[in-house]
Amino acid sequence: MIYLDHAATSPPSRAALEAQWPYLTQVFANPSSAHEPGRAARAGLDAALAEIAGVLGCRPGEVVLTSGGTEADDLALLGVAAAAPRGRHVVTTAVEHPAVLEAARALGRGALGEPFRVDEIGVDGDGVLDLAALEAALTPQTTICSVMLANNEVGTVQPVREVAARCRAVGVPLHVDAVQAPGQLDVRLDVLGADLLSVSAHKLGGPRGAGVLVVRGAVPLVPRIHGGGQQRGRRSGTVDVAGAVGTATALRLAEEGRATGGPRLAALRDRLVAGVLQTVPGAVLTGPPVDAVLADGSPARLPGHASFVFPGLGGETVLAELEERGVVCSSGSACAADSDDASHVLLACGFGEDAARTAVRLTLGAGTTSEQVEEVVALVPEAVAAAGGAALLAA
Ligand SMILES: Cc1ncc(COP(=O)(O)O)c(C=O)c1O
Repeated sequence: MIYLDHAATSPPSRAALEAQWPYLTQVFANPSSAHEPGRAARAGLDAALAEIAGVLGCRPGEVVLTSGGTEADDLALLGVAAAAPRGRHVVTTAVEHPAVLEAARALGRGALGEPFRVDEIGVDGDGVLDLAALEAALTPQTTICSVMLANNEVGTVQPVREVAARCRAVGVPLHVDAVQAPGQLDVRLDVLGADLLSVSAHKLGGPRGAGVLVVRGAVPLVPRIHGGGQQRGRRSGTVDVAGAVGTATALRLAEEGRATGGPRLAALRDRLVAGVLQTVPGAVLTGPPVDAVLADGSPARLPGHASFVFPGLGGETVLAELEERGVVCSSGSACAADSDDASHVLLACGFGEDAARTAVRLTLGAGTTSEQVEEVVALVPEAVAAAGGAALLAA
């Protein structure tokens, strides 16, 4: 099996599993307990928080451990909105993951009393947000601005630093959903200019059901989960020390591997994209071209991300044909896999309803080899033909 669905989730890392093992077996006590076993668990937790903070460029006390990216996003938007609603106004983009978009829309429907106004900023054909529209939408009364670093469906990297400058100019806190980025892009808060940042462990070989929201000290936040006041009152519940240790190890390894892993993934992706577009000329690459760069010269597309539409074919049909040939990938997003709804991201990029139902996303990871990529390049035209797309193939 060739696994090209790393954006959905990644194979567990042995190092992360081994780092967790002592905390799943011997060092099992509650880290809030005052006795010696509790103190041992606390020491492991503190070390994990320090490691996470080291990678993300924040203080350990600014790290809130969550059940994953979804909870981190939800806590960022609803936690800030509850603490400092100001003008009850959220600015985000039309291509966010549902964890952000639905949290914003919940505020718009009155989840915290009087409804918030929500501006979902549009994007261009490559999925890049309209910076001028975002700037025009922000006001000093805006509650929070939330912009993803990298898009999970089409791989677009947003100009977050430029967004941060605009937020700073009007004093609006910026939340960045960086779930797709560690190991591929720099995710330090001060580099991005973010006030809040979400990551998820399972995208990096870490434990499933574990994630992080970083909340800068000056940002007021009301908890979403009430109880014993763990994690400085920001997220109650007995802390999963093993989850924290696995998250910390996975994050550190992702960051350590970024300098060599990013370019390696980009080279594999370039070959994959070129191969597919050559053998299936009717396919359309979605998201930015592989050589596109942002204003500061950094890549405008995630190194490990290739995504296409196959006009006239059902994305799910192509996926099924690929799986029959041993290649596992997904349509635009794993979350939408069970529905035949058109992708909200592709619609926002200007694709029609029909094309937005034909997405195929191939996402690479540390274990992906060039032999696998060559095999996939040979199998995609076969799968497209078997799905009824002979007309899309090279003559
Ligand atoms: C950009 C983005 N944000 C948030 C999430 C949600 O993360 P989790 O699966 O850890 O809840 C995902 C997962 O697909 C994602 O890609």
